[in-house]
Amino acid sequence: MAYEVPPLPYDYAALEPHIDEATMRLHHDKHHQAYVTNLNAAIEKHPELSGKSPEDLLQDLAAVPDDIRPAVRNNGGGHVNHTMFWQIMTPGGGGTPTGALAQAIDSAFGSFDAFKAQFNDAGVKRFGSGWTWLVKTSDGSLAVVSTANQDNPMSDGQFPIMGNDVWEHAYYLKYQNMRPKYLEAWWNTVNWAEINRRFEQAG
Ligand SMILES: [Fe+2]
Repeated sequence: MAYEVPPLPYDYAALEPHIDEATMRLHHDKHHQAYVTNLNAAIEKHPELSGKSPEDLLQDLAAVPDDIRPAVRNNGGGHVNHTMFWQIMTPGGGGTPTGALAQAIDSAFGSFDAFKAQFNDAGVKRFGSGWTWLVKTSDGSLAVVSTANQDNPMSDGQFPIMGNDVWEHAYYLKYQNMRPKYLEAWWNTVNWAEINRRFEQAG
């Protein structure tokens, strides 16, 4: 079965004023759709892969045939990254994490504010297009990392707990060249309940 873009779990305008409706429409309906369309086109060339989840593909890119590996890396990454992205934002989001995740962040980074500063800094310093992430590493610790393009940390054996899209398509209509302003505003959309669920899923 072909991969599909999941419906946005809230209205396109629901994240206003932090993320504008026009950006959400383009980002979800055009950009995410393009990754899915291109991923499906790649997998059609190798129907033996069609039963695999996009996460399975990204976790073992070496097992993907050479002729479609770059397409799967870029478009499978684009699909998985954006599917997470819509879910880790919510209308009326923001605030700070609670429970075990809050404790893990405090113990890894010193404080929530220190974590947030490190996460934003990684996003600001990502040259060109990419993502900034909070991951669980293979040794079980939390870390902030940044990836280029649509690379997902799971291709490096890390579990992505949360990530922010720092491609210009995520913010340029509203914030133009001011990526730091977008990164700061984005925290007002964060869905800590979903991120907590992902933290527990990371094990
Ligand atoms: Fe994006």
